[in-house]
Amino acid sequence: MNDKPVVLVTRKLPEAVEQRLAEKFTALLNPDDKLYGTEELLRLAAQADAILPCHTEKFPAATIARLPDRVKAIANFSVGVDHVDLEAATEKGVIVTNTPDVLSDATAEIAMLLMLGAARRASEGERIVRNQLWKDWSPAFMVGRQITGKRLGILGMGRVGQVTAGRARGFDMTIHYHNRRPLDAEHAGDAVYHDSVEGLLSAIDVLSIHCPASDATRGLLNRDRLALMHRDAIVVNTSRGGVIDDDALVVALKSGAIAAAGLDVYNGEPDAIHPGYRELDNCFLLPHIGSATVETRDAMGFRAIDNLVAIFSGREPGDRVA
Ligand code: DGY
Repeated sequence: MNDKPVVLVTRKLPEAVEQRLAEKFTALLNPDDKLYGTEELLRLAAQADAILPCHTEKFPAATIARLPDRVKAIANFSVGVDHVDLEAATEKGVIVTNTPDVLSDATAEIAMLLMLGAARRASEGERIVRNQLWKDWSPAFMVGRQITGKRLGILGMGRVGQVTAGRARGFDMTIHYHNRRPLDAEHAGDAVYHDSVEGLLSAIDVLSIHCPASDATRGLLNRDRLALMHRDAIVVNTSRGGVIDDDALVVALKSGAIAAAGLDVYNGEPDAIHPGYRELDNCFLLPHIGSATVETRDAMGFRAIDNLVAIFSGREPGDRVA
């Protein structure tokens, strides 16, 4: 007899997570880590009481409308939920959760890596060594910029933004930020609030993007806003590619209007990102690995399971977003 709720897990998850899941639920796993298309997802969902997806599976309104009625929840293995139409889920009565907090440290680490990699020309340097192009050392060789003591602008001072600010303080950076509302004094510390994106961009040396992708933030960093940054400025993105207007950023990087960029997330990822980025030496590029540590991936899975356990015990899940 099996009366455990059935959870469709769309990707291969860490072993410890799959084990814990199997203790509490009947898990429909994906051992080959196949990327499900919409039709296959809907076919498998016919046997499920809940879905545990990643941001790689998309749930626009049309897909949500076709979910079988037995699906009660979408418990995401991600903090970002731009792959799910939350309004459509609410309308259909499907609970949606995410995994906040547990990936803040890992993502802040990648934000710092991107800042340093972009500022110190890490892509170029690595390529030169690997391709046996390193022929000389001179005072003018591979000279980059220092981030120590510079002004860091954080766009979206939520959990990840705040942890990134803490790490950056270790580099003696002064912290500026823009949010819809200023943080209270305890969370803001010495950070300087700017009530507009424009005000922030003209006051900083390095921009780190941490706001979620939404209709309000799509293409936020566009040509006009990039023009407010100074020529030595660096742009870093660990949030979602949608916040950046790629054509505008590529032009700014090519023309020297800004100095460099460090990107972990992209429009069209993984295989249809703006080709301009690949050609530019002043871009330090990573493949969406902000949360990719053993510790964090386990914690994300456990958090998703906690949310499912709450839902199927009739309690409010801790991380409900719809
Ligand atoms: C997140 O959790 O949103 C990461 O980007 C991985 O999906």
